Amino acid sequence: MADSMAPQMAQAAPGDVPGTTKRDFLMLTTAAFAAVGVGGIVWPFVSSMAPARDVLALASTEVDISPIAAGQSVTVMWRGKPVFVRNRTEEEVREARSVPMSELKDPATDESRVKRDNWLVVVGVCTHLGCVPLGQKPTDAKGDYNGWFCPCHGSHYDTSARIRRGPAPSNLLVPDYAFTSDTMIRIG
Ligand code: FES
Repeated sequence: MADSMAPQMAQAAPGDVPGTTKRDFLMLTTAAFAAVGVGGIVWPFVSSMAPARDVLALASTEVDISPIAAGQSVTVMWRGKPVFVRNRTEEEVREARSVPMSELKDPATDESRVKRDNWLVVVGVCTHLGCVPLGQKPTDAKGDYNGWFCPCHGSHYDTSARIRRGPAPSNLLVPDYAFTSDTMIRIG
């Protein structure tokens, strides 16, 4: 049987097939490798375009707010951005609520920006050109309105994180969030 196969394989050699040359065979072989090569490149590229699991997991962020005392703030990362979570003092809430709307560049009541009086949750990205304002640490400058200060070009935010002075056009953004219990919030 092996003897009978040998002549058939020899007949299939490219140079021996009528109408083909060794050059044709080499070109076909090269084309086949090129197709495999492209397939090998495309798959990981498409695969890399799908959201990674850790990115999906960060679509929402849970924050335990129980350790944050009155007057303290924490910064958490959500979708690659800092979010300021502040447990405001009664005085800070009073300050925020005593401001006439006519004095605000981007008018919004404090009540419309919070879900519970003392808790303020805002994206910590200056609405001017995107710097992260100061005011989270006790030693930070808090600006002329006792909230946050963006040193990049001098924007001052109040205790409701509303823009009060400087080039920023609007208040710090309030993200979608919810209290899932008295001590937990879910952002996103
Ligand atoms: S980026 Fe904040 S003032 Fe310009």
